[in-house]
Amino acid sequence: MNTQKQWKNKFQISFVAEDHQKIHELSAGLQRLFCGKYLQHLIFENEEANMSVYIGIGKEPLTTNQIIELAAFASQVMKKHHIKHYDLDVSTFIDEAGVDCLEQVAQGVCLGTFEKYKSYEESLRTFTACFCGIPDLQQRKAKAHIAKGQAIAEGILFARELVNCPSNQLTPMEFAGRLMKKLNSLHCKELSIQLIDADKLKKMGMNALYSVGNSSANLPCFLEIEYTPKPESKNRIGLVGKGVTVDTGGYCLKPSASMAGIKGDMAGAAAVAGAIYALAKNGQKKNVSAFLPMCENRISSGSLLPGDVISSYSGKTIEVMNTDAEGRLILADAVAYAVRKGEVTSVLDIATLTGAVVNMLGFSIAGVLCDQEQLFQQFSKAANRSGEQYHRLPFKKEHEEMIKSEVADVKNVGDSCCGTITAGLFIREFAEQTPWIHLDIAGTAWVDKPIWNYQKTGATGAGVSTIYYFCEEE
Ligand code: BES
Ligand code: ZN
Ligand code: ZN
Repeated sequence: MNTQKQWKNKFQISFVAEDHQKIHELSAGLQRLFCGKYLQHLIFENEEANMSVYIGIGKEPLTTNQIIELAAFASQVMKKHHIKHYDLDVSTFIDEAGVDCLEQVAQGVCLGTFEKYKSYEESLRTFTACFCGIPDLQQRKAKAHIAKGQAIAEGILFARELVNCPSNQLTPMEFAGRLMKKLNSLHCKELSIQLIDADKLKKMGMNALYSVGNSSANLPCFLEIEYTPKPESKNRIGLVGKGVTVDTGGYCLKPSASMAGIKGDMAGAAAVAGAIYALAKNGQKKNVSAFLPMCENRISSGSLLPGDVISSYSGKTIEVMNTDAEGRLILADAVAYAVRKGEVTSVLDIATLTGAVVNMLGFSIAGVLCDQEQLFQQFSKAANRSGEQYHRLPFKKEHEEMIKSEVADVKNVGDSCCGTITAGLFIREFAEQTPWIHLDIAGTAWVDKPIWNYQKTGATGAGVSTIYYFCEEE
């Protein structure tokens, strides 16, 4: 992707609002085919014997998601016609939403090339879009926004590829290996990565993670990634992502009908990895660390049983009431490690954590819990920029009561109600005094039917762009 002053390629895409002058200039015949409705398109030969592609944007002001969607649509139309190089007139977007929105346009263009079962790197290499219609004075800014949007899209596509990968191919160690390989490919000296294997986890007392992961012959591990572009600053955001590469439920076995999505239970860890990749690729200047617990949740003689009481990294004991509530167990250790050893000044955790959030908010809105207003403001701004949809849930003393145990410090499931809130509060127990925000993406990490055209059936890459902006906002 690059910018240029004039049309250069044979295929030239413009975005056209309903009733725009450009429509009135079309022949009567073409006007019958195209009136500028949102996501309508028209391809015709223009006076210079080049091919014009008009894409309708409707008549309402565009939302962030619509900008991504329109750009994705443009690249899908080109892909469908096997056009590898084309010009994209972005002046309509700049006029409407300012040069910043080229981040979303670039993101959409990249996401539009995505195909399942094909490496996204290959698709990105194959198609090139030249951005035209940028005023001279804004060229430099435009280039920076485009680069950022492209880095974010790569993070999203990387996350999707991992989440779509079946569990037999993506064991915890394989998952960790792929992340390290990808991040190392950046040759970024501000990045350092540490892999902690199962033996070491046991020795360190990461027993909640170890106990879940010990259910499988594919042993658990833990990845700590430090990105330090600003060593003089004491601020450091901690990102914690659930990396369960297969969740059968353990002895509280999932019913067959719920087994479909069990390979995608590492979408939280994938989102964090995608965001860190984009931050480092783009040379973002905020210190960020990632803490990624990775394991399988299976049935074996090493598995947890309902009623077990286990210790954890924080020293708190946990009564395991339900072995299918494994995500919060591994996150408990990762969050405790982040706040005690990771020197983080705030902590965000992200996980495909509860079926309850899917029942409540569906597939297009994720649930959020947060215990500090300033942190939530930072997050809200980030979500506004990314266009991803989140809804904050309340919590009170009575919810905290629900996870108190008779035999341990906490238990891993609450009463029959408020499943998303109690799951979050369980994790909060381990964040201690550090400001904490929690994202439950069980509904948004995966779509059977795409909601926006920049999605494809399967993994969505949920969380990557918002986490990126969250780290930038800090
Ligand atoms: N990974 C699941 C949550 C999930 C459900 C993700 C549906 C995606 C789609 C999690 O480990 C789980 O099984 N949670 C249980 C908790 C319950 C036992 C308290 C759930 O939500 O049913
Ligand atoms: Zn589970
Ligand atoms: Zn799970």
